[in-house]
Amino acid sequence: MAKETLTVTDNRTGKTYEIQIDQGAIRATDLRQIRVSEDDVGLLSYDPAFMNTASCKSAITFIDGEKGILRYRGYPIEQLAEQSTFLETAYLVLHGELPTGKQLEEWVYNITHHTMIHENIKKFVDGFHYDAHPMGILVGTVAALSTFYPDAKNILDTANRQKQIYRLIAKMPTLAAFAYRHSLGLPFAYPDNDLSYSGNFLNMLFRMTESKYTPNRVMEKGLDVLFILHADHEQNCSANAMRSVGSSHVDPYSAVAAATAALYGPLHGGANEAVLRMLREIGTKEKVPEFIKKVKTREALLMGFGHRIYKSYDPRAKAIKKLAYEIFEVTGTNPLLDIAIELERIALEDEFFVKRRLYPNVDYYTGMVYEAMGFPVEIYPVLFAIGRTPGWIAQWQEMLLDPEQKIARPRQLYVGSEQRDYVQIEQRR
Ligand code: ACO
Repeated sequence: MAKETLTVTDNRTGKTYEIQIDQGAIRATDLRQIRVSEDDVGLLSYDPAFMNTASCKSAITFIDGEKGILRYRGYPIEQLAEQSTFLETAYLVLHGELPTGKQLEEWVYNITHHTMIHENIKKFVDGFHYDAHPMGILVGTVAALSTFYPDAKNILDTANRQKQIYRLIAKMPTLAAFAYRHSLGLPFAYPDNDLSYSGNFLNMLFRMTESKYTPNRVMEKGLDVLFILHADHEQNCSANAMRSVGSSHVDPYSAVAAATAALYGPLHGGANEAVLRMLREIGTKEKVPEFIKKVKTREALLMGFGHRIYKSYDPRAKAIKKLAYEIFEVTGTNPLLDIAIELERIALEDEFFVKRRLYPNVDYYTGMVYEAMGFPVEIYPVLFAIGRTPGWIAQWQEMLLDPEQKIARPRQLYVGSEQRDYVQIEQRR
């Protein structure tokens, strides 16, 4: 049998090294033995944006970007989207196995009974400007939860960690809904424990004067599926932020705030919002070819297209496309959706996109579904954050329990000045 090793020759010294290959990877630290002299720190690997570096071993999510495969703990995303619920999927992502009936009942009970937030949190939500972006409010309020639960610092205590996990999954929708209601000047709507996770979120967003809110079944189910499709996506920008910040052993609320901040960016979770803004800017179906031209001359990005990992159809986008048409049957389409459909049709046939293997990603359709469901654009990334919370926590917990992990601290290649002496201000030119 062939040896699972790599032999490299350093042409600077003529020395040869044999390096172990494990699961198709070499350990970057094995390169440190390759040195030209005694005082050389050893060979580094240079990898801006982690294009070819595995930063951890993970058993949570499997992605094959070439084939368009996404699985949580081995289960295909398509099966989970059709047959599971968000809370069951959250349990799976966090525990590694689907729950038994009793385990699910306990899990749902514990999450449902942690949805309330401290009344003081309402005060600082109120302190935000009326047009504050709900993601900004969410980043601030989830970080602030750490001050309400100082015990959360005991991250190495299993029972304590479990309590914070219930709290985080339960309270994210409450914080998100309060942020949304604040932007409209509406009174906050409290959680209703009789409703499902998604149904209760709709209740906290949309309840007006009725004493009992009844969610629309299609919206409730649709939202639940969208949360499932967002539950984890291995080492993406926000999961990496969660692991990196969590590796300092800060409490999980502060680490989730960092992950939420990472998600806010337009190249990550902010893309679904950017998709809708792009569609509004295009304005009419007739202007789609003109916009495509702008993308090809690099004056614009086609938001919601392209992915670092998927070089074929994003499987989540496929599932959402199916869901989208079920939802449009209830809500009807509108001119923005017509533009989106035309834009996708033209882009998928155009050589520029075909050659670069640019396909719609999850955000292209979530934007459309949220628009059809009547959600305001600013809340789109917030919906993503709620769905992704179990994944962030699972990534964080896996990192904490992995004996190989330490505080994340990349190296750099220094390209600045050599040592030089301080120059007095009057002598500077
Ligand atoms: N529109 C136009 N051109 C694009 C797009 C796009 N959306 N995405 C990539 N390209 C082009 C690049 O210009 C590049 O062309 P070149 O080789 O001629 O220079 C080529 O396709 C490869 O793209 P990269 O930028 O190298 O791909 P990378 O993996 O770095 O970026 C990213 C991935 C950030 C998602 C990118 O495709 C993008 O900006 N898309 C739009 C934003 C978006 O939808 N983000 C959501 C991602 S999914 C998520 O976070 C849930």
